[in-house]
Amino acid sequence: MRTNLFMLMALVLVLAANPVYATKKADAAKEQAKNPATVVAPTAPIPAPAAHQAQPQKKEKAKTMAELAARYDSTSCKDCHEDVYKEWEQSLHSKSILGTPRTAPTIITAVDKGIKLFPHSGAKEDKDLTVNHLMICAKCHLPQLKDATDDVAREIVSTIRAWQAEENDTKRTELEKKISSLNIGCTVCHNNLAIIHKWADGYPQPDTIYGSKAGSHDHPSFTKMAKAPAMKESILCGQCHGQGPNFELDHPSQCGTIYASYLFAYIPEGGTETCQECHMKKSKLGHNMQAYRKDEMVKMALDVHVHSRAMYWRKNKTDGVIPIGYVDIEMHNKAGHTIPDG
Ligand code: HEC
Ligand code: HEC
Ligand code: HEC
Ligand code: HEC
Ligand code: HEC
Repeated sequence: MRTNLFMLMALVLVLAANPVYATKKADAAKEQAKNPATVVAPTAPIPAPAAHQAQPQKKEKAKTMAELAARYDSTSCKDCHEDVYKEWEQSLHSKSILGTPRTAPTIITAVDKGIKLFPHSGAKEDKDLTVNHLMICAKCHLPQLKDATDDVAREIVSTIRAWQAEENDTKRTELEKKISSLNIGCTVCHNNLAIIHKWADGYPQPDTIYGSKAGSHDHPSFTKMAKAPAMKESILCGQCHGQGPNFELDHPSQCGTIYASYLFAYIPEGGTETCQECHMKKSKLGHNMQAYRKDEMVKMALDVHVHSRAMYWRKNKTDGVIPIGYVDIEMHNKAGHTIPDG
């Protein structure tokens, strides 16, 4: 071991003293001296454009579920945007950890039958869980979890377990409320995820609400409004309604994949509408973005044509001629993607 180390050190020394390398360096210096134009002088910092919006300083991480919920609380928007709030409240975005409520139990399955069983996850028990572990779901179900400490990840798991075990209805409802207090609230879309191309359009600022206009905004902490070019585009939704395996995660997961079929099936077939046009405008559901659980969407989804006729059929010698019905069903998917997803 020791000799190997010596040999390695010797090699490094030989390389450093390599005469060819040293001559090349000297030549380059001479070349630069001859041609001052190539000398890069230490420059003053390039002045930032007036409206440069840098990545804001990271706030201290939220230490409890309550603290994280308060930072992303949508009720402060309710007074002035009552209709939008009421629509949003009915959507699954308003309970994106609880789900239908199928999501919360599935997160527990992912913990017990996935994360804890993987040999290299570093988590054998609930107390070992971190934000990074839950990110395989939270990337889309609660992206703001990255603003919280690992204690919050563990509190989410213990709260879901308590809710699953609770038999008293009142207490169960209370726990359900606590789980739903973490959700895809107004500022997740209108701030955190509002800007896609941050180098071109700036990083989301902590005092700004992003929508279709710029100006001042009458809210104690979100005092400004700014335009988000992607707000009306499908890519806004595509950030969570996924494309396939999420390769940036330590352990890629796959759940929502509708954005992929939108991009690679609907658009190439000549589709022109955005997610927002179908789900918010045509459906008239606004912020209550829905799918097959709402009649409005089901009606928009399929063209079904049924042709039927009756005829006689010579079956065989024994049965002879029998009456039969002939039904021809034609179905056409009018949604902007495959259905169902997941
Ligand atoms: C005191 C009232 C008030 C509160 C509270 C408030 N807003 Fe607003 N908001 C307004 C008004 C008024 C406008 C419209 C300004 C205009 O049209 O010039 C607006 C505009 C907006 C827009 C832009 C709409 C567009 O057409 O693009 C968004 C998005 C928005 N608010 C989101 C929020 C969110 C999210 C919250 C909570 C964090 C919130 N607002 C809280 C009054 C309020
Ligand atoms: C790429 C983003 C993304 C990731 C990562 C993700 N999901 Fe989802 N999930 C969605 C979207 C979007 C839906 C909405 C419905 C659909 O398109 O299927 C959904 C729907 C669901 C549903 C059905 C909804 C319900 O309430 O019945 C469950 C359950 C679910 N996810 C659990 C999980 C779990 C558990 C994980 C982590 C192991 C996870 N998801 C990871 C985006 C994601
Ligand atoms: C899942 C993402 C998402 C969430 C969550 C969300 N919004 Fe929006 N919001 C949008 C999009 C997209 C539009 C633009 C729709 C369009 O014009 O095509 C929009 C438009 C708006 C507008 C302007 C036009 C209108 O529809 O009235 C207001 C105001 C607004 N949102 C407020 C809110 C408030 C308040 C909340 C929380 C109660 C909220 N939004 C939650 C995505 C979201
Ligand atoms: C922050 C991530 C995120 C963004 C952004 C987002 N969604 Fe979702 N969406 C989800 C998740 C997660 C669910 C499923 C929640 C659950 O049930 O657990 C969902 C559910 C839905 C559903 C209901 C699906 C069902 O099975 O009933 C529809 C429809 C939907 N989203 C449409 C949209 C549209 C349209 C946009 C863009 C305007 C959008 N979403 C933006 C994450 C997101
Ligand atoms: C041309 C209109 C149209 C466009 C564009 C469109 N959708 Fe849909 N979408 C529908 C209809 C209609 C349904 C209801 C069908 C159903 O769920 O059975 C639906 C269903 C869904 C579902 C539930 C899927 C399931 O499991 O059944 C989700 C989630 C969803 N859409 C999200 C999106 C997102 C995100 C986009 C943009 C990338 C988008 N949609 C674009 C019309 C559209």
